[in-house]
Amino acid sequence: MMAYVIVLGNEKGGSGKSTTAMHLCAALMAAGKAVGAIDLDLRQQSFFRYLENRAATAARDKMELSMPRQFTLRLSNADSIEIAQAEEEERFAQALSTLDESCDFILIDCPGSDTRYARMAHSVADTLITPMNDSLVDFDLLARMDAKSGKVLGPSVYSELVWEARQLRASAGLKPMDWVLLRNRLAHNQAHNRRKVGKALENLSKRIGFRIVPGFSERVIFRELFAMGLTLLDLKKSNRLSLSLSNIAARQEVRELVKALDLPDVSIKF
Ligand SMILES: Nc1ncnc2c1ncn2[C@@H]1O[C@H](COP(=O)(O)OP(=O)(O)O)[C@@H](O)[C@H]1O
Ligand SMILES: [Mg+2]
Repeated sequence: MMAYVIVLGNEKGGSGKSTTAMHLCAALMAAGKAVGAIDLDLRQQSFFRYLENRAATAARDKMELSMPRQFTLRLSNADSIEIAQAEEEERFAQALSTLDESCDFILIDCPGSDTRYARMAHSVADTLITPMNDSLVDFDLLARMDAKSGKVLGPSVYSELVWEARQLRASAGLKPMDWVLLRNRLAHNQAHNRRKVGKALENLSKRIGFRIVPGFSERVIFRELFAMGLTLLDLKKSNRLSLSLSNIAARQEVRELVKALDLPDVSIKF
């Protein structure tokens, strides 16, 4: 494997995995990187639907919009769990090696649930990005907490999954994964809540082994972007998007995110 693998994962829907995947995809392509894409959310397929919408907009508006190289995986329909597992491992390895031939980066978007493919993806992640809504309610993603005292009782099932993926990497001689927790949908009128969440996250980050990066503020534009297949990087390209202050600020958040991820040899070209 030469390509650098970025995985978007957690065990919650609606936290921003697919939105972040699409924006990173666009940022990497803008930086001149060849990007491969895998959508493991086989039910919702939001990442690949986002890309379909992108292709449709490019055709309709006669725009040039860069696209990644996509690889579609399917579930094994073997009855035996062992055979299904082996078949899917085979398909997953095939996907990676196919994309690896022509790509600098491979982006894998996971479903908000524990699946065999999602586990495989976690164990090949050079960078794992876990978006989280900015609320204490979403902490159960990372740790079991005592509701009253806020005390950490132990790791959550998801932290355990990441821990196992790390063990697998170590035993395969791969370099350690960079686990990045992305605080998404930050609400500006909730400074108190943000500080509280921030403090609790700092505490957890040392125990569980992740670092924290700021994601995107809560903004309605994201829904429209999905429908149009566009990203905040396309603000100037498409007359369907307004260069409003809010959109420009959102684009700056994408820049900050890409910077904070500190990916190999990626400069910000948007
Ligand atoms: N920062 C944000 N502000 C507002 N809406 C957002 C934000 N991030 C994501 N969304 C919206 O939330 C929904 C779920 O996001 P998505 O990226 O599909 O999450 P996931 O892939 O984790 O399920 C989508 O409609 C998306 O447009
Ligand atoms: Mg998704």
